[in-house]
Amino acid sequence: MKKLLLSFCCTVLLAICACQPDKYSDLQISETAIVPQPQFISKGEQSMVLSKGLTLVVQEEGAEKTAEFLADYLKTIGWTSKVAKEVPKSNYIDFRWKKMTNATEGAYDLSISENGVEIAAASNTGLFYGVQSLIQMLPLEGEAVRLPQMNIEDAPRFGYRGMHLDVCRHFFPVEFIKKYLDMMAFYKMNTFHWHLTEDQGWRIEIKKYPKLTEIGSVRKETMVEKNFDPYVGDGQPYGGFYTQEQIKEIVAYAADRHITVIPEIEMPGHSVAALAAYPELGCTSGPFEVFTKWGVTDDIYCPSELTFAFLEDVLTEVIDLFPGKYIHIGGDEAPKDAWKKSPLAQQVIKREGLKDEFELQSYFVRRIEKFLISKNRQLIGWDEILEGGLAPEATVMSWRGEKGGIEAAEQGHDVIMTPNDVAYFDHYQAGPEGEPLAIGGFTSLQDVYAYEPVPKELSADKAHHVLGAQANVWTEYMKTSDYVEYMVFPRMLALSETVWTNADKKDWSQFENKLDWQFKMLDQRGVNYRKPD
Ligand code: ACM
Repeated sequence: MKKLLLSFCCTVLLAICACQPDKYSDLQISETAIVPQPQFISKGEQSMVLSKGLTLVVQEEGAEKTAEFLADYLKTIGWTSKVAKEVPKSNYIDFRWKKMTNATEGAYDLSISENGVEIAAASNTGLFYGVQSLIQMLPLEGEAVRLPQMNIEDAPRFGYRGMHLDVCRHFFPVEFIKKYLDMMAFYKMNTFHWHLTEDQGWRIEIKKYPKLTEIGSVRKETMVEKNFDPYVGDGQPYGGFYTQEQIKEIVAYAADRHITVIPEIEMPGHSVAALAAYPELGCTSGPFEVFTKWGVTDDIYCPSELTFAFLEDVLTEVIDLFPGKYIHIGGDEAPKDAWKKSPLAQQVIKREGLKDEFELQSYFVRRIEKFLISKNRQLIGWDEILEGGLAPEATVMSWRGEKGGIEAAEQGHDVIMTPNDVAYFDHYQAGPEGEPLAIGGFTSLQDVYAYEPVPKELSADKAHHVLGAQANVWTEYMKTSDYVEYMVFPRMLALSETVWTNADKKDWSQFENKLDWQFKMLDQRGVNYRKPD
């Protein structure tokens, strides 16, 4: 009799359930394929459904901005959402402030219970990264997703996670810079190194020196492929620059994505576009013209008072546009021939009691550093700034391998690793047969993935001076934004794990397995990338 009753009850229950079927009962639990790999993930047995119409719970002041960012993203996949102060029974994302045990900027916890998602952090940067991880678990289409019960505890390994872009050899419009920033944010990269001045073009409006853009932003033509000798030009004038209004727009756009922009104003070398505009800044009377081929030229700024006054004026406008603490002054590849021949340069060497032209470059950089410090900013330079002695508070970007970075860190200076054997995304990533023309080199996805930014040779007590790493994207051969994307993706994904994920949590085969899903997301965002063989 009892059995009969039980079976009757079950039938009734089933019938009720059948009348009101769980709309999402067929929905499979989604995979977790987040890049960069979070530091800690634990999964439970249960799952929950998040669907269109969900509630973004913002009980605490200040978190609205990140909730709005997510709401805007959800619209792109066709999901509506509402904001509330109360936590509903289900289908919600709850933003919380939480004092994090890991003090690194950007730490967050993400927990998925049977009812909803909670993202907790001590700052909007942390909440923002929690949102990026969540977005990578949301579907590209459809109205719902089934997520596993899960706890993520995550924080970046390095505070500096950089991507560089040379907009001088080829120029890229504001819309592309924004896309680049969007993709950086998606992979939790936080520093955009914007290479704005070069021999081949000056790309930032400076109000006090209008000729920098009137003359310096345009070259009469561009060398065809690698036709150095004999030189072949394409006969097509090429130019472009960003107005100060556009720069402000980009800096604000980056800030909304928790990205700091570091402008690079090259000196004393790679400056012939400026000399073309203001020849009096050179050591000879020129004539100078905006460079039409690639490489290095002997024409550099002369270390005159006129040059220092000019550079301080330029930097004053630059500082007003870029609120971040760092200003990059280049310092690389500055041949000393012009200074050797220049009576003025020789006179400065004598006056300052310097040994040679390398010490003169060091004097040049120290003077600029003094100026930057007076404006509360910090100087970064390529590793050539070690030659002739480092400026007292300079941060070094190590590009000719890691040697300069090690040397600077041993001297107690902060360094950013961008070694050209693994962090130059202008190098071939495959081929070169079958690949578009590149500058040379070879850096595979796996090379980038395997990179360890803290060199073994560095003393353990100096390891903290390695702030992080960055990939450089020099665009001599990248004429279009599509080509830039092809060179950057998916290598930036590998870099993002290298700079975010602790070394013991990195796993190449796990990373490879995540790529299928990552490529679907890149497709959805209209990003061009190279599919590994
Ligand atoms: C560089 O690649 N010349 C810094």
